Amino acid sequence: MVNYKDLGLVNTREMFKKAVSGGYAIPAFNFNNMEQMQAIIQACVEAKSPVILQVSAGARKYANQTLLRYMAQGAVEYAKELGCAIPIVLHLDHGDSFELCKSCIEYGFSSVMIDGSAHSYEDNVALTKKVVDYAHQYDVTVEGELGVLAGIEDDVVAASHVYTRPEDVEDFVKKTGVDSLAISIGTSHGANKFKPEQCTRNADGILVPPPLRFDILKEIEKRIPGFPIVLHGSSSIPQDLVKSINEHGGALKDAIGIPEDQLREASKSAVCKINIDSDGRLAMTAAVREVLQAKPAEFDPRKYLGPARDRLKNLYIHKCQDVLGSANKA
Ligand code: G3H
Ligand code: 13P
Ligand code: ZN
Repeated sequence: MVNYKDLGLVNTREMFKKAVSGGYAIPAFNFNNMEQMQAIIQACVEAKSPVILQVSAGARKYANQTLLRYMAQGAVEYAKELGCAIPIVLHLDHGDSFELCKSCIEYGFSSVMIDGSAHSYEDNVALTKKVVDYAHQYDVTVEGELGVLAGIEDDVVAASHVYTRPEDVEDFVKKTGVDSLAISIGTSHGANKFKPEQCTRNADGILVPPPLRFDILKEIEKRIPGFPIVLHGSSSIPQDLVKSINEHGGALKDAIGIPEDQLREASKSAVCKINIDSDGRLAMTAAVREVLQAKPAEFDPRKYLGPARDRLKNLYIHKCQDVLGSANKA
C-alpha cells in the first residue's frame, strides 16, 4: 500500500473548497505518457495553477500502474525543480468498479472517480457508497456521477444526453458521502460533441453548438449549495488545430466542442473541476503531423514529440489563464 501523502500528492478537498468560493475551476488534464505529464506540469507551474493529473483505466493499462505512480511522484519533484510546488492530485478517471478504485488507492492515487452512471440509480448509490467508505479510510476523495453524457462513455455509446435530474442530487450526495459530483448538462466526450445539424451558424459562418443547460446547473446548485460540481467532456475542439490536422493528412470530420466562453461562465459557479483530454490530443497530433510533413526524413522522436509537448504546454497555459481562471491560485 502506497499512501499518496508520501508521494507529495494532495486530495481534492481543500482545492475544491477554494475553487468554489473563489469562482474558478481546477483543470483535470488526462495523461498517458511522459511528454503529456511534462507539458501539464510545465504549464501549471508557469501559470501557478493547482492541477489534477487524470488517468483513465485505458491510460493505466497503457502506461503501467507502477510507472504511473513514479511518474506522479516525479511530477511533484519536477514542479518543485521548476520553481513552484503547485498542489497536484493524482485522480482515476471513470473508474467503473470497486476493485479498480481500490487498486488505484493502493497504488498512491489521491482521488478516484467511481462512474456508476451506467447503472440504475439505486445501484449507482450502492457502488459509490462502497467506494467512498473504502477511500475515506485513507483520506482519498471520491467523485461520483449522475446523468449520462451523450457520446462514448466507458465504451457505452449513448445517442443522447440523460441530463442530471436536480431532484436526485441531494439524496445521492447524502446517501453516498461523495466529495464531488459529475453532472450531465450538455457536454460530451471526444471531438464530435454535436452533429452539425444541432448547431447554428454565426455571422462568420462558424458552427455554434447549442448552449449548455445552465438552468439545470443552477437548479443543482440550489439543492446542494457550494457542493463541488465536475464537468466532463469539456474540450473546446479548437478549430485551428482541427484545420491543421486536416491540412497535414488528417481526416477529422465535423469536430465540434464546447465554446470557451461557456466554460468560463461555468467555472465561476460551483463547477470546480473541468476535464480536458481531447484538446490535448488534438494539439499533440497537429504538431506531430506538421513536423513530419515538413521534414519527411526526420526519425528522431524527440524532434516531433518535443514540439508536440510545447504545443500542449501552450494550450494548457491558455486553459488555466483564459478559461478556467485557475492561474495564480496555487
Ligand atoms: O473520458 C475519457 C477520457 O478522455 C479518457 O479516454 O479512455 O481513451 O483514455 P481514454
Ligand atoms: P473531452 O473528451 O471533452 O476532453 O473530455 C475528457 C473527459 O471528460 C475525461 O474524463
Ligand atoms: Zn469524462
